Amino acid sequence: MKGSDVNTNTSRLTKDGIRLYEPGDFAGMQKAGRLAAQILDDIAEHVFPGQTTGVLDQLITDWVAAAGATSATIGYKGYQHASCISVNHVVCHGIPGDKVLKDGDILNIDVTVIVDGWFGDTSRMYVAGNLSRKAERLVQVTHDALMKGIEAAKPGNTFGDIGNAIQIYAESHRMSVVRDFCGHGLGRVFHAPPNVLHYGRPGTGAVLEEGMFFTIEPMINLGRPETKVLADDWTAVTRDKSLSAQFEHSIGITTQGAEIFTLSPNGMFHPTYKA
Ligand code: MF3
Ligand code: CO
Ligand code: CO
Repeated sequence: MKGSDVNTNTSRLTKDGIRLYEPGDFAGMQKAGRLAAQILDDIAEHVFPGQTTGVLDQLITDWVAAAGATSATIGYKGYQHASCISVNHVVCHGIPGDKVLKDGDILNIDVTVIVDGWFGDTSRMYVAGNLSRKAERLVQVTHDALMKGIEAAKPGNTFGDIGNAIQIYAESHRMSVVRDFCGHGLGRVFHAPPNVLHYGRPGTGAVLEEGMFFTIEPMINLGRPETKVLADDWTAVTRDKSLSAQFEHSIGITTQGAEIFTLSPNGMFHPTYKA
């Protein structure tokens, strides 16, 4: 992903072009992140066999408006929806519509909101009906891979340390890390430097510093890592049609480590949470 930042005189940039935000900026990200996460909590009870992805997206659209916030994705590079909904072998950027969920489908719902100019970007997995054992394994490993990445996100570590933690974990479970999409800096913009790769070698890449805001959003496949984008120019699928899963948090680097802005207010950021 590429992104450009507004380089004002007052903003601090690292030599790698990564913006360093101020301690007072965390409050804005907390508010935006909380709303995005609350929406992902609230959508859970609407995911069931027979439901369409279009109805889920319409609910999300309504809730963003009701909160007085703005969808970051509606109008973004021509995208027309408040969410991406990626079912089964869809890796990311699935377009909501008439698709009817059936028993055992796994899906990622990805929402980005803007609150007072700050961006909150998060996604989770859901299941319609009953979860198969192999899908359960994939979803659990993907969730845990994200958390391994977040554990490696602290001052002095590098972005390569984050990617390596995710890659080692996923591959140790004989799953693969998608290379074609990555996490990204965000804050007052949707996509900014750096590209946050979900694979890599320890000690490589930019060094993390307090005040960096970015996402980690690994996509993990049961089969091979290669993807292709469908003719709609958005929907990315696994080339081998294997199942794919993704979780995403927006985080900020503190002296201690990482603050997660998109934690579930109701403790529902968990593999296929069931009420
Ligand atoms: N929310 C996605 C991300 O994690 C980006 C979606 S862009 C869209 O970066 F246009 F497809 F919505
Ligand atoms: Co993102
Ligand atoms: Co997202």
